[in-house]
Amino acid sequence: MSADPAQLPDYAATLTAFHAAFRRELRRAVRAVPLPLGAAVLDVPCGDGFYTALLARRMYPFGRVAAADLSDAYLAAARETVGRAGAVAAVDFVKADAYHLPFDDGTFDLAWCAQSFISLDDPVSALAEMRRVVRPGGRVAVLEDDSFHHVMVNWPAELEVEVQRAAAEASRERYGSRSALSPARRMRQWFLDAKLTPTGRKTIAADRQAPFGPAVRRFLALHLRETREFLTGHLAPHHRAALGCATDSADPDSVLNRADATVTSLTTLFVARC
Ligand SMILES: C[S@@+](CC[C@H](N)C(=O)[O-])C[C@H]1O[C@@H](n2cnc3c(N)ncnc32)[C@H](O)[C@@H]1O
Repeated sequence: MSADPAQLPDYAATLTAFHAAFRRELRRAVRAVPLPLGAAVLDVPCGDGFYTALLARRMYPFGRVAAADLSDAYLAAARETVGRAGAVAAVDFVKADAYHLPFDDGTFDLAWCAQSFISLDDPVSALAEMRRVVRPGGRVAVLEDDSFHHVMVNWPAELEVEVQRAAAEASRERYGSRSALSPARRMRQWFLDAKLTPTGRKTIAADRQAPFGPAVRRFLALHLRETREFLTGHLAPHHRAALGCATDSADPDSVLNRADATVTSLTTLFVARC
């Protein structure tokens, strides 16, 4: 079955563009996970299969990977991504709820969970379920970010302060919490609550500067449009106008066009023992 983009969530295009823009650094995160030869790995939720393909490539030829997600459209997208990835370990695609995984206790050596705690609103239960399906001594690895540091562009500092304030407000309105968009800062506590033993933490920085290549430009354009839409109603008119100019691809002063534009993206890998 081919993936139907209309069935994917609103954020799907931006997330896929993020993978393409920062592929090099994200692949480094996957390589940093401790994995024995021939390991069995669970990628949950797998989304578009970006990490499934990297994990399956890393596990080739002796390991095996299960890619689980609740969305049929995302599972179809993941199959396509893995199909294009070349030589990879065997991959099973499984429609499954992250809170009730259809696997026996101790099936896997590693459960991998990337950028999904915005969707999984009971993180401790989801992590406890990952722990259940990993063997004792195996690992749970989580790749997460904190939206306050996830994508930093060098627009004026006073605009940054307003954007961050508005983001906390918009987050409370949409998700009922000012910190819903910052799972990375709570991950260690969630591990402890899920009876996992934190063993490692590594923040991966990706730096890009103008002129941006097409993948970074596409990601930034989508991300900045999303930011503008998310913050509408939470900014004073003059700050809204400033954000509009700073993010408008037709404006020469936009971060998409300025010769001195830079972007830094921080993502953190958290590893825990079961
Ligand atoms: C933000 S995406 C991240 C996907 C992927 N890990 C990545 O980094 O690209 C969140 C994913 O969670 C899936 N999802 C949401 N709730 C779920 C649940 N209860 N069980 C399994 N998957 C779920 C969505 O379908 C989506 O694929």
